[in-house]
Amino acid sequence: MEERVEHFGTDKYPLALRLLHWARALLIFGQLWMGWTMVRLSDDLPAKFDWYYPTHKEFGVLTFLLVVVQLAIRSRTTLPASPDGLANWEKKCSKAAHYLLYSLAIVVPLMGYSMSSTYTQSDGVPFFFTHLPELLPKNDNWFKVFQWLHKTLAYTLLLLVVLHILGALKHRFLDADRRNDVLRRML
Ligand code: HEM
Ligand code: HEM
Repeated sequence: MEERVEHFGTDKYPLALRLLHWARALLIFGQLWMGWTMVRLSDDLPAKFDWYYPTHKEFGVLTFLLVVVQLAIRSRTTLPASPDGLANWEKKCSKAAHYLLYSLAIVVPLMGYSMSSTYTQSDGVPFFFTHLPELLPKNDNWFKVFQWLHKTLAYTLLLLVVLHILGALKHRFLDADRRNDVLRRML
């Protein structure tokens, strides 16, 4: 009978980064769903502006803070090297995708905050037991720019996340080389 050698153990991401990866993934899915849903609700529905908008802003700021913590921990950690079974272009593409995912996870909430700040009819951003101040002067033209950027970059992030998930599933279920199963490193 053929013997299969499994490479379990040493090349996992550290626990803190694994926990943060999944917490942040959950938050980003929630934010994408909430953003998509809330802008399509009727303005007459009181929950739209009383609950959806403030909650979206609150959890958006939380997502931003989580990514900052994640990047700080990451910068002090030795990360597992890319599996040897991957082609060079695959290693380069996945590194570039991770870089872009981090960049968008930072820039999208910043654009949301800037949009909220410049909008003449909004007043600060609720954040759990406190209220964060507006950081930019009110200006409806700038609001429109930030609104466009927030929307476009949020859906670019969604596209990238879909590709990211497809990549992880491909390496787990379609690659013959078991060392390429990167999902195991993140579980
Ligand atoms: C990772 C974090 C975030 C994600 C993924 C995200 C995603 C989205 C998405 C997909 C939409 C719907 C866009 C559309 O279809 O028009 C949206 C709308 C919105 N977001 Fe975010 N968002 C995030 C963080 C934030 C933050 C931090 C704020 C403000 C502090 C914010 C404020 C808003 C506002 C005010 C809208 C409604 C825009 C409108 O009425 O046209 N978002 N967001
Ligand atoms: C909003 C959702 C997600 C975002 C923004 C995201 C982002 C990221 C980022 C930035 C990394 C690089 C980690 C680092 O080197 O510090 C990463 C790694 C990883 N992610 Fe995600 N991720 C998301 C969801 C998922 C999901 C749903 C899966 C599973 C199907 C997944 C599977 C993985 C795997 C396997 C790795 C490790 C790749 C490797 O070892 O080279 N991610 N993710």
